[in-house]
Amino acid sequence: MRVLVLGGTTFLSAALAQVALDKGHEVVSLARGESGGFALGTTPVVADRRWGPVVYRALEGNFDMVFDVATHTGFVAEALEALAGRAGHWTYVSSCSVYDRQDEPWADESAPLSEPVRDGDPDDPALYSGLKSRAEELCREALGDRLHILRPGLVVGPGDPSDRFGYWAARFLRDPDSPVVVPDDEDAVVQIIDDRDLASWALHSAEAALTGAHNVSGPSTPLVEVLESVADVCGFDGEFVPVPEPVLLQHGVSHWMGEDSLPLWLPGGPAYEGFARRDISGALDAGLDVRRLAETARDVLDDEAARGLWRERRAGLRPETERRVLSALS
Ligand SMILES: NC(=O)c1ccc[n+]([C@@H]2O[C@H](COP(=O)([O-])OP(=O)(O)OC[C@H]3O[C@@H](n4cnc5c(N)ncnc54)[C@H](OP(=O)(O)O)[C@@H]3O)[C@@H](O)[C@H]2O)c1
Repeated sequence: MRVLVLGGTTFLSAALAQVALDKGHEVVSLARGESGGFALGTTPVVADRRWGPVVYRALEGNFDMVFDVATHTGFVAEALEALAGRAGHWTYVSSCSVYDRQDEPWADESAPLSEPVRDGDPDDPALYSGLKSRAEELCREALGDRLHILRPGLVVGPGDPSDRFGYWAARFLRDPDSPVVVPDDEDAVVQIIDDRDLASWALHSAEAALTGAHNVSGPSTPLVEVLESVADVCGFDGEFVPVPEPVLLQHGVSHWMGEDSLPLWLPGGPAYEGFARRDISGALDAGLDVRRLAETARDVLDDEAARGLWRERRAGLRPETERRVLSALS
């Protein structure tokens, strides 16, 4: 079949292009080529979606399956305008962050979405949910029952540009005998999915013309179990030092993402109780299969080692911040 990946040069969209190639499909991939290279075997279309609708003129013919990962609502709208009439099935990659509330454990796909935001910077975390909501709305309006919406939780795996999950592997490898700062929150859970599992299921679903919206994640797992599993794979021998939220905040440590963050750590209290407790039964019933965490951790470990353990990161505690937090405790 003929597949179009809008993206295809990094992480999830690259994995999408790769699984489609592996299944013997003809794959066209449209991107600037800035985030990475095009997979060998794809037909690359080098274009910048900021140029506007003109970029889609380079795409000829019909596509059996289209995959779009954009959060920029203008990109989504223009791609739909140009291509919806030529697409058999369309997959839009949204996010579990699209929901209006994150405090309700085990909510399914019928939970209310955020108020759509028509336009804005896709890199602004405050707008992300509303932009994804608007992008979903645009897709529904243009495609009706040819649309499959994926709402992943945290996507992890080798090559993750957000540097979140990989922080833990890099930290354990960098200093394998020293005490490591972890959040002191026994109730903390995470729900993650390997980008390659997400890509495989997305392709499988498109081949089967699955429609509607699905939360797509692995099982909700205690954060400490996840960290222990990564530590184990990395041969980490040091001690976990659980640090209470107020102490971390006092030292400028942020939740979840960004510089001097503890990745995968969410604010305590009820506001995020449902964030990593999403109902994924719909996707499981439709064949979602996720690999063992240790397998992902092993591949991430190799990737982190290859990219450099001391490189500048987009997420994670800087060594000096971690030392400061630890010495404040003693
Ligand atoms: N990471 C998570 O934990 C998480 C969680 C939930 C949902 N999601 C969603 O999952 C998806 C992740 O997608 P991804 O891994 O493929 O990462 P991404 O950063 O969203 O990938 C963007 C792709 O689009 C291309 N692109 C970016 N700007 C472009 C432009 N101006 N013109 C043409 N192409 C452009 C990039 O290639 P070039 O730079 O080479 O052009 C790249 O191939 C996103 O939809 C994200 O919102 C992620």
